[in-house]
Amino acid sequence: MTVPMLQIADLTKRFGGLVALDHVTLDLEPNVLHAIIGPNGAGKTTLFNTISGMLKSDSGAVRFHGTDISRMPPHKISRLGMSRSLQIKSVFDSMTVAENLWIAAQARQGVMHAFARRSSFVGTSKRVDAVLEQTGLGDLRDTSAGTLSYGDVALLEIGIALATEPKLLLLDEPICGMGPAETEATVEKIRQLAKSVDIIIIEHDMPVVFDLAEQITVMAQGGVLARGAPQDIAKNAAVREAYLGDEDDDDEEEAAHA
Ligand SMILES: Nc1ncnc2c1ncn2[C@@H]1O[C@H](COP(=O)(O)OP(=O)(O)O)[C@@H](O)[C@H]1O
Ligand SMILES: [Mg+2]
Repeated sequence: MTVPMLQIADLTKRFGGLVALDHVTLDLEPNVLHAIIGPNGAGKTTLFNTISGMLKSDSGAVRFHGTDISRMPPHKISRLGMSRSLQIKSVFDSMTVAENLWIAAQARQGVMHAFARRSSFVGTSKRVDAVLEQTGLGDLRDTSAGTLSYGDVALLEIGIALATEPKLLLLDEPICGMGPAETEATVEKIRQLAKSVDIIIIEHDMPVVFDLAEQITVMAQGGVLARGAPQDIAKNAAVREAYLGDEDDDDEEEAAHA
């Protein structure tokens, strides 16, 4: 059996009396595009915050490619190859697309080191070019980030997360606020990226989730409600009841009660 990409064991996080993560246990395989869904307040973002080291868990363990990262600070976890694109904006508006990526790429080596050595300068420059290629932002490399469209800012956010050459990319609602055309372009980009980097995406747009994800984990009230392939999750009665709502399954419910 292969070592899971991410092993989450009995992870608990409390905010005062509120249990945001309630003994979450989850093994995620590599080379699979994972989605995490669940109602508002289910604990999805807290899960990302906890596994990326931004929040300390109260109990439980997280292993990333076999390494125990439960008590590691965020920068160490990032150096092991976990990168997240934040819901809060991390783009510098007054800088160009390429400059934003340059700063992010340098963070990996440490700024002093990067300025001191020509080899790392060349390395950073290559990394920026690679990310411009991966995100399709090449034509906009010298454009001020402040003048980008909403969709291109989202791509730049993903590019910033990719600049450190991660093994795993955590995306928290990357298409939030986008129109249909931008959504479609970003979804396609994420699908392409998933060929070269593991991705876990938190997303509330169900058509997008069911189109994109290969494995879906459903969270509710800090716990894992269900886990499976999209077609199984769509059929799961507990999920439908707790989360997907009953607007579009009246017929089936009637059939089930008949
Ligand atoms: N920093 C925090 N301090 C206190 N409560 C928090 C904090 N972050 C999240 N919560 C609470 O934890 C629960 C889970 O939140 P969150 O993980 O953001 O849910 P989701 O991303 O699934 O919508 C919510 O009840 C939220 O109000
Ligand atoms: Mg959230």
